Amino acid sequence: MTKRILTGIKPTWSELHLWNYFWALKPFVEMQNTYKDAEFFLFLANMHWFTQTQETEILKKNSMTIVKLYLACGADLNKTLVYNPAEIPWHAQLNWVLTCLTNMWTMERMHSYKEAIAKWKAWEISVWTFCYPLLMAADILLYDADQVPVGKDQKQHVEYARDIAQKFNNTYWETFKIPEPIIKTEVATIIGTDGRKMSKSYNNYIGLLEEENSMLKKIKQIPTDAKTIEEPKNPDECNVYNLTKLFLTQEEDQELRNKYTAWGLSYKEAKDYLFEKMRETLAPIKENFNKISDEEISKTLHEHSQKANIIAEKKVKDVYEKIGFIL
Ligand code: TRP
Repeated sequence: MTKRILTGIKPTWSELHLWNYFWALKPFVEMQNTYKDAEFFLFLANMHWFTQTQETEILKKNSMTIVKLYLACGADLNKTLVYNPAEIPWHAQLNWVLTCLTNMWTMERMHSYKEAIAKWKAWEISVWTFCYPLLMAADILLYDADQVPVGKDQKQHVEYARDIAQKFNNTYWETFKIPEPIIKTEVATIIGTDGRKMSKSYNNYIGLLEEENSMLKKIKQIPTDAKTIEEPKNPDECNVYNLTKLFLTQEEDQELRNKYTAWGLSYKEAKDYLFEKMRETLAPIKENFNKISDEEISKTLHEHSQKANIIAEKKVKDVYEKIGFIL
């Protein structure tokens, strides 16, 4: 059977940056373009975002931006269903069944919940902060996903999806595919412009849609040591190099490393090269992004949600039959 690869993105940020690109967008698109006979499911995790924040305008704006960025970075609508679970009633329906089959203890040991209660008071967090993995399991099991690419922080949630699928299959007969988490670790830490890990909260990031002037300004601010042009330099200790290498082919990388270890490379030159390489990658993304209208996104989400709905409905009807809901 054709393999199914499924993942969801929360519209938490309107401005995705290089870390999101190298860590999530690029690997997804590469998978999509390499696996010849696989089906891809990429959905907007808006219902999940709503467990934390209820800001209508921000939710709408960020959702739009993120789906556009996925398309701009190469999600191919012929290979990938790009859909909106809020248009598919079956996510909430399956979620109900899973909720009834899951004990409190299982949810209480989830890291995400433990973190939330350590940080906030009970009246500050929604019930669905507690139940979050249930909805996520429904998202995955509805479509018989084989592989689920996620960040390390989501591993436990996918493992719960596996456990509950297994439990259901054991009790009611084979119904769900057991999904496998694909934990993305291949990308080393992405260094921000201040030398720390690139992160929104450190404000040391370069946005995927960043204006070129601002991109250049941020590159100029990357701290370097005081070595002169004549001195050989260690590329691995240089923040400029560490960012540049993300954009390079193997040969280009080797060439740059050679320049660092020989004499004659100035940091100005290294920074100019970084800017050039970054622009080469980001300019087409920006250009694609600007060509996609909001209407196109809404239309795609409606159409693809209808297709996903057919698959999801079938699965829930099967579940309902098996548990005895349909007479
Ligand atoms: N919880 C995921 C995150 O925060 C998003 C998500 C929701 C998801 N449902 C999913 C990812 C199902 C993979 C599969 O990043």
